[in-house]
Formats: sequence, C-alpha cells, structure tokens
Amino acid sequence: MKITVIYGTNRTEKSSTYNIAQQFLAELSDGDPVTEFHLPKDMPEFCTGCFACFSDPEKCPHYKYIRPISDAILNADLIIIAAPVYVFHMPGLVKALLDHFGYQWIAHRPIEAFFHKQALVITTAAGAGMRHAVKDVQDSFNWWGVGRTYTFKKAVQASEWSQVTEKKRAVIAKEVKATSQKIRSQKGSGTRLKVRMLFYLMRFVLKKYRFIESDAAYWEENGWLDGKKPW
Ligand SMILES: Cc1cc2nc3c(=O)[nH]c(=O)nc-3n(C[C@H](O)[C@H](O)[C@H](O)COP(=O)(O)O)c2cc1C
Repeated sequence: MKITVIYGTNRTEKSSTYNIAQQFLAELSDGDPVTEFHLPKDMPEFCTGCFACFSDPEKCPHYKYIRPISDAILNADLIIIAAPVYVFHMPGLVKALLDHFGYQWIAHRPIEAFFHKQALVITTAAGAGMRHAVKDVQDSFNWWGVGRTYTFKKAVQASEWSQVTEKKRAVIAKEVKATSQKIRSQKGSGTRLKVRMLFYLMRFVLKKYRFIESDAAYWEENGWLDGKKPW
C-alpha cells in the first residue's frame, strides 16, 4: 500500500521510533511508494494564527512546506506519524505541523478521500506518557475523518535503539507483525463509527448555525447537508 510517514524528529538510525516505523514499512509497503518527511527539516514553522487556510489552504504563509506533505498524505493509503514521547506528549514539532491542518477538520472542510484511508500513530517512551502522546495525534486523524486509526506504543527503557534489549526487540517485532496484519485486513473496510459520529455531529451544527459561512457552503457543495456521506 502507498504510505506517507512523518517522523517527529530528525533522528534516524539511533531512534527507536524510527526503527519501529521502518519495520512497519517493511511489512506493509509491498514495493509501493513510501514518502517520508522529518520534522523540523521538512516543516520548520509554527502556525501564525492568520486564519488564511480556513478560506484557502494555499494562502498559508508556510504553504511551500505544507503542500508536499498535504499532497503526500492525500496520495497515501496509510498515513503514519512516528514520534517519541517528550514530557508526556508528542514533541512540539508534531503539534506545530498538525496546527497547520486545522482547516481540514470535520468541523471545517474535511476531504472526502480521508474517510477511506487508514492511519497509524507510533510512539516510544522511556517509560510513561504514551497514552497522551498518542491522543495528541489521534485527535487530528479522527477529526480529519481518517477511516481507521491504529496505535503502536512501546516503553523501550532506552534513549536510543542500540540500548533496546534483544528481548524487547523480539516482542516489538512480533507486535509490529500483528498490528500490520490488522491494518492489511481492514484496508477498504469503511469508516469507523467514532469518525462517522463526528461527521453527523458537525453536520447538525453546521446546518443549524452556519457559523462559518464558507464551511457551510463547502459542505453544501459536497451534498453533505442534504444527506450525502463522504464514505
Ligand atoms: C526532551 C525529552 C523528553 C522526554 N520525555 C519523556 C517522558 O515524558 N516520558 C518518558 O517515558 N520518556 C521521555 N523521554 C524519553 C524518550 O521518550 C525515549 O527515550 C524515546 O524512546 C526516544 O525516542 P527516539 O529514540 O525515537 O528518539 C524524553 C526524551 C526527551 C529527549
């Protein structure tokens, strides 16, 4: 399957998260294209809060960075965000990237293709904080309308991959295979209930309040206010 991976740091060989992500790519890519981005190298900016993207994403002052990432995730069957836990959450770089995609939340202008995609959040920690870290990304995937999101979290008790014990590596390899099988078997199996509920909730709100007229118009153009569904 076509995969786009965004790594939350520039670390590669030394990174436990990167090495686990590589195992997923080996399991799932099947020779199809894999597109990889590293933060901050490929998107070093913070959202300026200008609101321009809500009327036209191309007006984002950082569009030169956002466009290749946006194109790649749109072209992927599986979107992966892989990043370590920093102080119980995702590194700020990941949040800075996700802030740039607020315009495509279900509350605004969701993109139909996402409802048919899958996503995976990979994180590692020395010991704790993975639940919050995963949620930092999962919230965006759900609100982008991604059909199915999986998580892979591992306490590695290490600051780099070379320190991860053989025993732990064997467990990781087994769990990567099991999660990959789930991802493979669910491909094309539809949008999960939670995401559909977010869509219905926002349809109700937009219909009743039309609080951002351009969002309501976008939903209307797609026929979503008249009963059509994006999945
Ligand atoms: C700035 C910073 C903050 C960290 N915060 C946590 C934390 O809150 N909880 C934890 O268990 N490990 C924490 N760690 C350890 C890393 O999450 C852990 O070593 C991780 O596996 C590193 O991933 P990497 O090898 O992919 O870079 C932190 C590391 C750094 C550099």
